Amino acid sequence: MDGMSKSVIVVGTGGYALELISLLKSACIPVKGCIGPKNKLSEIWLGPDNELGCFTDDYFFVVAIGDVQKRSEISKKILSLGGEFFSFRHENSFVAENAQIGAGCVIYPGAIIHSNALLGAGVLVNSGATIGHETQIGNFSNISPGVSIGGNCTIGNFVHVGIGSTIIEKVFVSDLVTIGAGAAVISNIEQTNATYIGVPANNLNR
Ligand SMILES: CC(C)(COP(=O)(O)OP(=O)(O)OC[C@H]1O[C@@H](n2cnc3c(N)ncnc32)[C@H](O)[C@@H]1OP(=O)(O)O)[C@@H](O)C(=O)NCCC(=O)NCCS
Repeated sequence: MDGMSKSVIVVGTGGYALELISLLKSACIPVKGCIGPKNKLSEIWLGPDNELGCFTDDYFFVVAIGDVQKRSEISKKILSLGGEFFSFRHENSFVAENAQIGAGCVIYPGAIIHSNALLGAGVLVNSGATIGHETQIGNFSNISPGVSIGGNCTIGNFVHVGIGSTIIEKVFVSDLVTIGAGAAVISNIEQTNATYIGVPANNLNR
């Protein structure tokens, strides 16, 4: 990325971090290494989470942890240490010029984010996902590969929208909801911390 003043540290050492590092490298974004439990990425591992403070002055951070709550906790820690976030948007995605993308978001190749969409902090929009016009996505939510979300939806914080699922237009989804793979959400989900599956989507525990 032209003019980028600092290189990037990826926080996370699992599958999401593995994918993101290869996307960053393919975009010629300098990656210093990764922080977290010693795991898949040992050749570029910089240390565990408690060493974050050693790097906050000199690097940007992007948190690549799939668990939405852990992602939020680590992001808060980085903020408290004075760290700054990097948002990544792959060049083969489309983001409307008037869409707003929060700090630390990651937009994968093939993702489409239409006009006036609003993404909070730390949102992951995975490969081939579509977010309709004026739809709002809350902080630290995951939009999985191949998801379609219609226009004018409101998706809460810490929501996991499962792979290949669909949410029709003007629907509200409460915080901490999990939407199962392949589900079709056709009405509001008011209950927080619930799991919805199927076509049409229903509460798994009812
Ligand atoms: C919905 C989900 C979270 C449920 O996980 P879980 O709580 O561990 O539930 P279980 O696997 O025990 O399944 C419970 C029941 O729901 C059914 N079920 C689970 N997921 C389902 C889905 N997506 N669609 C339809 N039925 C589903 C199971 O068959 C099982 O039915 P049974 O009780 O009749 O046997 C999970 O299956 C899922 O879809 N996760 C999304 C994964 C994803 O998007 N990953 C993205 C990676 S990038």
